Parts: sequence; C-alpha cells; structure tokens
Amino acid sequence: MYEQLIKAAINARDKAYAPYSNFPVGAAIISDGKIFEGCNIENASFGATNCAERTAIFKAVSEGHKSIEAVAVIGDVNAYTYPCGICRQVIAEFAKDTKIPIIIIKNEKEYIVKTLEDILPGIFSKEDLNK
Ligand code: THU
Repeated sequence: MYEQLIKAAINARDKAYAPYSNFPVGAAIISDGKIFEGCNIENASFGATNCAERTAIFKAVSEGHKSIEAVAVIGDVNAYTYPCGICRQVIAEFAKDTKIPIIIIKNEKEYIVKTLEDILPGIFSKEDLNK
C-alpha cells in the first residue's frame, strides 16, 4: 500500500549530505496527492543541519503544498529510525489531521505504521493559540 512512498524515501536517502554523522536519512511525504522527497543536509556548524523529513516538508510547502497525508522515513541502519522531536512538530504543523500515517521503514519489506498522534501525543498546534 505504501510501496511508492517507501521507494521514494529509500531513493531520497541516496542524496543525503551527512559527512559528519555518516548517518544518511531519507524521507518522502505525500502532500496534496504529490510525493516530495527529502534527505538530511548537514553543516560544519552542526546546528545548521536539516533533517530529511523537514527537507521534504519544506520543499512541499515552498511549492504551495501544505496538507500532508503521509510521511515515510528511513535511516541508515537495518533498524527503525523515528522522526526526531523537531520533525514531529513540523509534521504536526502541516498534517492534514492527527491520524495521518507515519511509516517508519527498516527496509523495503519491513516497516511500521504509526499515526502522528501515536508519536506526538498532546500535540501543540495553532488551535492552542486561540484558546
Ligand atoms: N536525522 C534526520 O534526518 N531525521 C531524523 O528524524 C533523525 C535525525 C539526521 C540528522 C543528522 O543529519 C543525522 O540524522 C544524525 O542525527
């Protein structure tokens, strides 16, 4: 079911710029029905690093697509790499709803599907600003 998105995340990982951590990450999202890929992009000033998920999201948003329907992510080890805390918050900002699937990929055949709510309970969002 998530085959295409998983392939896109794996493909995106090949573009990772991770000379400091040597931990390439690939992500792919569906936003407004379109797939966007992203990789992690590190920097000699480590704090300037951008995660793969945020790269994909920022590409989508900068092209006018602000409604994420699914997120897939894969790290470099044969293990499950979950989105970091900052990426979870950024996903929440643009997620279509709190139940969107977050696909945590180990390899093409093995992956776990969680919802955004599962990995970010008690989400802080724009609604909270109006309370
Ligand atoms: N990284 C991601 O790209 N996504 C995550 O959700 C976890 C961490 C990257 C950032 C950094 O380039 C490398 O993994 C090691 O932390």
